[in-house]
Amino acid sequence: MDKIVITGGQRLCGEVRISGAKNAALPILASTILGGGECVITNVPRVADVLTMGKLLGILGASVSHEGNRAVIRAEVIHSTEAPYDLVKTMRASVLVLGPLVARWGEAKVSLPGGCAIGSRPVNLHLAGLEKLGADISIEHGYITAKAKRLKGARIYCDTPTVTGTENLMMAASLAEGTTVIENAAKEPEITDLANFLIKRGARIEGAGTDVLTIDGVRELQRGDHEVIPDRIEAGTYLAAGAMTRGDVTITHCRPAHLEAVLMKLREAGAEVQVEKERVRVMAPDRLKGTDVRTLPFPGFPTDMQAQMVALMTMAEGTSVVTETVFESRFMHVEELRRMGADIRVEGNRLVVAGRPGLTGAPVMASDLRASAGLIIAGLAASGVTEVQRVYHLDRGYERIEEKLRALGATIERRKAGAATTGR
Ligand code: EPZ
Repeated sequence: MDKIVITGGQRLCGEVRISGAKNAALPILASTILGGGECVITNVPRVADVLTMGKLLGILGASVSHEGNRAVIRAEVIHSTEAPYDLVKTMRASVLVLGPLVARWGEAKVSLPGGCAIGSRPVNLHLAGLEKLGADISIEHGYITAKAKRLKGARIYCDTPTVTGTENLMMAASLAEGTTVIENAAKEPEITDLANFLIKRGARIEGAGTDVLTIDGVRELQRGDHEVIPDRIEAGTYLAAGAMTRGDVTITHCRPAHLEAVLMKLREAGAEVQVEKERVRVMAPDRLKGTDVRTLPFPGFPTDMQAQMVALMTMAEGTSVVTETVFESRFMHVEELRRMGADIRVEGNRLVVAGRPGLTGAPVMASDLRASAGLIIAGLAASGVTEVQRVYHLDRGYERIEEKLRALGATIERRKAGAATTGR
């Protein structure tokens, strides 16, 4: 397994271009199953999860070509409606083919994703919503089977705002007969991006970005082209890296409006943040101040930035309380940060972080995508060498991370598994 080796202490300075949003690209690719012919999707990040979604579409029988950051998909005719366990277990977002398959083909067999490092991650709300739309749902031998002659519009209330649940149900309702209203829908920008792509192809959707979605089903969707929105979590990660190293980093090709909560917290912690159209500059010459964070569904502070913020607070002045309200156990980064000298106390779903003047580099283990990002941020500021192992977690959601960080002045390299060390 590859590892990333960082020698900390370099101030990050310069510009970094933000890639397309993984969590928008995934439902957008899955939505090509809804029919309509060749779709050309641009600004698609070359990250493992997106390549996995392409592989899944290929297994279903779609033709997928993904060159650079451009994907061309023809999924209007497929020869299978089964998403196999061996693939779903590597990427839980595979569940996003469930709604489109049952809406377009009247049936779907998708492996239950199973839990992961950040929590049990149930899909009960996806299934309850599809049942409301008239699908017969059964779970046998670890697989979800969904069947329906033609889905019928319904009023659906989601007990909790679920991002992929809202996406699954919005895609399914696009081809249902009649009107569907989804209440307490998630409002993440990735949902709005998916809705915009579906609307381009003839879907009739109102309210994307609010907590009430109204979808008037149509018989079929046309083809469409789309440019994926920038990745707000990647953007926040590089801003945090710039602030952590007391640097001066500008991110480009981003959407500041998707980053409001993160920018507010960086300012509260004492960083200077300048916002232009698609550019955000962060400067943090002095030691940051401890600040409290509470993760919430959009537009609140994103749970996908929690680990990065915790890393930032480990070297801030004073104490910070970080409360995780979205997932039940998203603290896998804590033990690893402690190995670097961080002073963090876990109290239920809250972390109490006592800022220290410095961290020390250490070999640490990545456990999930965003925890790995937190460890990279800590390693950039720690004194000495940090080796982040199992970086396949990082590769799921960050495009060329070591290249982008090196261009900002970081001393960072990827060591292939089994490669001789450079002796440094
Ligand atoms: C999406 O996951 C993202 N993944 C996650 O990003 C992100 O952390 C999460 O939303 C929250 O923002 C993609 O978009 C591919 P949820 P999702 O359904 O949809 C509970 C990353 O790092 N819930 O919004 O799986 C659930 O347990 C990944 O890029 C149910 O109880 O998250 C959680 O507590 C990690 N039943 C809460 O809702 C359900 O049927 C929010 O989960 C569905 C969800």
